[in-house]
Amino acid sequence: MNIKLKKSLAMQEKAKKLIPGMTQLLSKRPDQFSLGVWPGYYSKAKGVEVWDLDGNRYVDMSIGGIGANVLGYADPDVDSAVVEAIRNGSSCTLNCPEEVELAELLCELHPWAGMVRYARTGGEAMAIAVRIARAHTGKDKIAFCGYHGWHDWYLSANVGTGNALGGHLLPGLNPCGVPKALAGTSYPFRYDHLEELEKIVKEHGKDLGVIVMEAVRKAEKPADGFLDGVRALADKTGAVLVVDEISSGFRMNTGGAHLVLGLKPDIAVFSKAIGNGYPIAAVIGKADIMQSAQKTFISSTCWTERTGPAAAIATIRKHKAVNAGKHLMSIGQKVRNGWEECAVRHGMNIEIAGMYPMSHFTFKHEKHLSLKALLVQWMLEKGFLASTSFYAMYAHKEEHVSLYLDAVDQVFAKISDAIKDNKIDEQLVGLPSTAGFKRLT
Ligand SMILES: Cc1ncc(COP(=O)(O)O)c(C=O)c1O
Repeated sequence: MNIKLKKSLAMQEKAKKLIPGMTQLLSKRPDQFSLGVWPGYYSKAKGVEVWDLDGNRYVDMSIGGIGANVLGYADPDVDSAVVEAIRNGSSCTLNCPEEVELAELLCELHPWAGMVRYARTGGEAMAIAVRIARAHTGKDKIAFCGYHGWHDWYLSANVGTGNALGGHLLPGLNPCGVPKALAGTSYPFRYDHLEELEKIVKEHGKDLGVIVMEAVRKAEKPADGFLDGVRALADKTGAVLVVDEISSGFRMNTGGAHLVLGLKPDIAVFSKAIGNGYPIAAVIGKADIMQSAQKTFISSTCWTERTGPAAAIATIRKHKAVNAGKHLMSIGQKVRNGWEECAVRHGMNIEIAGMYPMSHFTFKHEKHLSLKALLVQWMLEKGFLASTSFYAMYAHKEEHVSLYLDAVDQVFAKISDAIKDNKIDEQLVGLPSTAGFKRLT
């Protein structure tokens, strides 16, 4: 490697001893990239630039804070709203008015919704949505599609089934610690496979209280009739339809992707992008359903702090003013086209998927995890945080994309040579990437 990572790697070793699994988020674990070369820690981030602990500077063409930093790092407008909230006291005995202003803003953007509750992270907001839906319908069973976080209601699908969640973004999620009594309470169906939801309804319809799905995770349109079919099955069974917009929201438009797709939720859940990295999550829904939050107990101290809603108001207003959705779509499309052209030029077989602003590809090769690690390693040497996923930020400009694609072109050439010469693993400085969830030792 032509870069020094001494302090970054030392911090990782120390962290492994103090924090089980090293980090709080699987997607930020260095082994997801290449353990031994991925810097793992940052000292500063601004716009699209990131500095690691050893002072190396990178342009971030990877996961943009795993989709949280939709505008870019340390956005001046969002930060000044947060600084003002801090100067005026970010927490107090009384409530902050920003949460009312944000509720108004979210309901303006989503006129079908009448009320809003808040949390600070996506997974807990999904747990709130599921609790409200169960409280409203009085029925326990859940049909779901996609990834929804770490909570018991979701992981319970893997209890006694081995790997029911395997087809929903993250394979290998171990439900250890989830009560075995929850087995048989949540059932997965795949996107575009209405027949799978129909089967769940046939078998469990009378106990089905909630249907949960991600709005979208691909660039192509949903299959004809799928979204209307899901809505019709929710109406038929009386289940509350919860649309998870934690990743899809504020990527293609200012608001939920369901607005663009024509999907009609009862509840929608946002986090990540709405705070540009500051912790905030919102559960929005039809007023009569949201009122069921009062039938049960949903309450937490730090859900009332001020920086989250202050950041969300500033992020959403800026997102709308600059039409960030249009920019993210265009940048994402350019990156994807570039991947495709580089792969063709160097005779490599890759498979691209995801929404345009949240795209990823897989090397179609038996050593794809080693090839991914080589890509990470050689892109770092060229000054980019990069892997096989790209999350667009408003701060990404065309010049970043063209410099990045020049580097990808050169690195794909080297990877193609490594494949031809059968010299993949011997060129790795770090370890092959890890796929999905595994214990970190
Ligand atoms: C669609 C979706 N739902 C839920 C979550 C969980 O959100 P968080 O990581 O904030 O708990 C994620 C995170 O990636 C997500 O993409």
